[in-house]
Amino acid sequence: MSGAVVGPLRVGAVAHGGHCVARYEGRVVFVRHSLPGELVDVRLTDTGHDRYWRGDAVTVHEASPERTDPPCPVSGPGRCGGCDLQHVTLPAQRRLKAEVVAEQLQRLAGLEVAVEVEPVPGDEEGLGWRTRMRYHADADGVLALRRHRSHDLEPVPVDGCPISDPRGRPERTGWEAGQVVETAVDTAGSVSTLVDGERVSGPALLHQRVGEQELAVAADGFWQVHPGAAETLVDAVLEGLAPQPGERAFDLYCGVGLFAVALARLGVRVWGVESSRTAVAHARRNLAAAGDSASRVTAGRVAQVLRRL
Ligand SMILES: C[S@@+](CC[C@H](N)C(=O)[O-])C[C@H]1O[C@@H](n2cnc3c(N)ncnc32)[C@H](O)[C@@H]1O
Repeated sequence: MSGAVVGPLRVGAVAHGGHCVARYEGRVVFVRHSLPGELVDVRLTDTGHDRYWRGDAVTVHEASPERTDPPCPVSGPGRCGGCDLQHVTLPAQRRLKAEVVAEQLQRLAGLEVAVEVEPVPGDEEGLGWRTRMRYHADADGVLALRRHRSHDLEPVPVDGCPISDPRGRPERTGWEAGQVVETAVDTAGSVSTLVDGERVSGPALLHQRVGEQELAVAADGFWQVHPGAAETLVDAVLEGLAPQPGERAFDLYCGVGLFAVALARLGVRVWGVESSRTAVAHARRNLAAAGDSASRVTAGRVAQVLRRL
């Protein structure tokens, strides 16, 4: 049945992962590239489950007013899997994400919460923000991204992936087939490029500014991919905790100490736990650079470290 086109189907509520829920012969079909209320034909892409199938909207008979032309030429059914909602106007993208979060909170935690998704400061257009990218060179040596739920490759557009930070866009062609090319950009605009895990250009250590603080992170280490995310998350944590000097806090899965450093700067004694030894070294260094000597960072897996307490 996979590959067959069925419909027209009336599309219902949004689900996570860019899908909306439709029904075909009594069975749930999670449909990508559709919007609630639309009438669409669906190409089935995954019929391997009893309770639900997956598919892509390939013909739109009745379009939602919130449908728009995707800014990316390789977005769409069967194409790049990197973005879920390129066919949706930006305000509607945010509203749909809010609905997904509200539904999850309701279903998993029994919480009725009014959710609003706002752009982080500096991101009004929803493009050009992604500071860390991982590409695969295709058989022609062209940089490509994976198709949805597939290892098949979709070459990036001629001008590069539109959600990527333009400063970090590598040459599109001239790679060896199969190479994995990763790029990372820091807040000062330094760009590091790794090929098959080896750094080929740019600094080994990137410096990410978060408010008053600058944090060192390895070029291949974890950092929030949106340049506005780190500060937004720190602000939310500090607002929620309202920490007082002398208090103690855990920063579990602390990475290079994004939250630990912010708390330590306010006089909180932090115990960070992180499994990557490189990140642990950088977290310790970042805490020391913030003038903190009371906090500690333990290398290990959270479940095991907490069990030892
Ligand atoms: C999503 S990152 C968040 C890092 C940091 N809180 C931040 O926002 O920059 C998750 C971190 O958890 C670490 N990690 C993953 N599994 C872990 C585990 N079981 N125990 C400890 N750390 C883990 C990863 O190495 C990574 O640095």
